Amino acid sequence: MAAKPVHVTAIYPGSFDPITNGHLDLIERSSRLVDRLIVSLLRNENKEPLFSIPERMDMLREVVQPYANVEVDCFGGLLVDYAAQKGATVILRGIRAVSDYEYELQMALMNRRLGPSIETVFLMASEANSFISSRLVKEVIGLGGNISGMVPPAIEARLKNRFLGEGR
Ligand code: PNS
Repeated sequence: MAAKPVHVTAIYPGSFDPITNGHLDLIERSSRLVDRLIVSLLRNENKEPLFSIPERMDMLREVVQPYANVEVDCFGGLLVDYAAQKGATVILRGIRAVSDYEYELQMALMNRRLGPSIETVFLMASEANSFISSRLVKEVIGLGGNISGMVPPAIEARLKNRFLGEGR
């Protein structure tokens, strides 16, 4: 078994379309556990995102600015290959409810098979954020609902712009 590296780099992968307060809470808490945290956006041609990769990278950079050991990147291909290339030994994921567990377990086990030296670490979402998802936030604002407190203010402004148009 490999010894613990002196510096621990973790990857927090995801779609972040857009980043929510749930994601941000996880970033804040995990930034205190590892030396370097790379929040990394999946370049996924199969999904039709609301925000483009450059837009999502911009939004991520804006909200992680207060955390000195957090950086933003994007990746394609296998996550374990990307993690190895970045010198990361940890993949970080959040779990909100039991419904997340099966999907996360399957991914974690697949990643362990593909890259046994990379450990997936789960953090539980805070109670206050455990119902928030990017998908629901988009649905709610798209139907005219209030999303304040679910995403950082800068992201709320971007969503309002996208759904309600400039200057509203
Ligand atoms: O926020 P999401 O959309 O639930 O994140 C999913 C993500 C990006 C973590 C997952 O799709 C992923 O890691 N994709 C990279 C491709 C890969 O490595 N697949 C095999 C392992 S499951």
